[in-house]
Amino acid sequence: MINPIYYQESGIEKINQYIKNHQPTKVIFLVDENTRELCFPKVVSELEIESETKVLEIASGEENKNLYTCISLWEALTELKIDRKSLLINIGGGVLTDMGGFVANCYKRGIAFINIPTTLLAMVDASIGGKTGVDLGSFKNQIGNFALPQMVLIEPDFIQTQSFEQIRSGFAEIIKHGLIADSNYWQKIKQIQNPDAENTGNLIETSIKIKKSVVSLDFTESGLRKILNFGHTIGHAVESFFLENQTPILHGEGVAFGMIAESYISMKKNLLSPFENEEIRNYIASIYPKLPVKQENFDKILAFMQNDKKNTRNEIRFVLLEKIGKAVYDISVENELIIEAMTQMLKD
Ligand code: GLY
Repeated sequence: MINPIYYQESGIEKINQYIKNHQPTKVIFLVDENTRELCFPKVVSELEIESETKVLEIASGEENKNLYTCISLWEALTELKIDRKSLLINIGGGVLTDMGGFVANCYKRGIAFINIPTTLLAMVDASIGGKTGVDLGSFKNQIGNFALPQMVLIEPDFIQTQSFEQIRSGFAEIIKHGLIADSNYWQKIKQIQNPDAENTGNLIETSIKIKKSVVSLDFTESGLRKILNFGHTIGHAVESFFLENQTPILHGEGVAFGMIAESYISMKKNLLSPFENEEIRNYIASIYPKLPVKQENFDKILAFMQNDKKNTRNEIRFVLLEKIGKAVYDISVENELIIEAMTQMLKD
């Protein structure tokens, strides 16, 4: 089970077809200050909408991905008298598509929505697969549900609206796809030293295929889908730590850190070979800046991991690598080894 994904002009055509067939009462566009200026005009100029349209804008940034923003959106939808036959079109990055999907799915028990991801991260990960939700304080995606958009439209040109750091952040999810599922893909990815719009744009389709194939086997993440969280157990905890300290880092920077540390754990668990562990560490460290994590932060970061959604009975459960291209999940890892892996990260 997964939403259809369409590309460029054929995607616009599908949205137009959907609107023609369903005749939504109103079409609401959800944008942030960046996508309103840089992406919305192109989308709206290509759509054929006869219904009344409205634009709702939220402030960009992870710090706004919370229930307070959702409440303001539900109030705005109520004020606009949006009914259940209306359509919400989310135009933005992962924060916006995660939150927009959640808002749509809860409003009057659910209205239809379409995702138009505008960041590399949202194109290859967040907008695909039906996970929606918001953060609770510093806990990432703590509140949420599974809800599928009617469709996802991928317009790779939108990546050009992003800074290099944001594109590099999305690239971490592409690296993850190679590591968990496809060693040939990893070989191709590894050639990239400069993950800019040009070098990453032609990887989008392969990454989406990998994500789609995993999600279609396990939509609600009772098993296999957990492999998509490789690098995220430590990565999310580090991200939460910096978010709480009010010095947020980009998601992919946390995931890059997490993938190196979790590869080390995979090696110590006699799964991944030392050679492959070295290969992963060297490549990822050559792309991402070193995070200012310190030994005295480890307890706090570990406490965030204790709240990870993949844990069972208070055990921290990891996705680890058996080899490049093959992940295993639900592996319990003792705190000492997690600390050891993070200590390795402090070395040059
Ligand atoms: N971002 C991981 C997943 O969609 O399962």
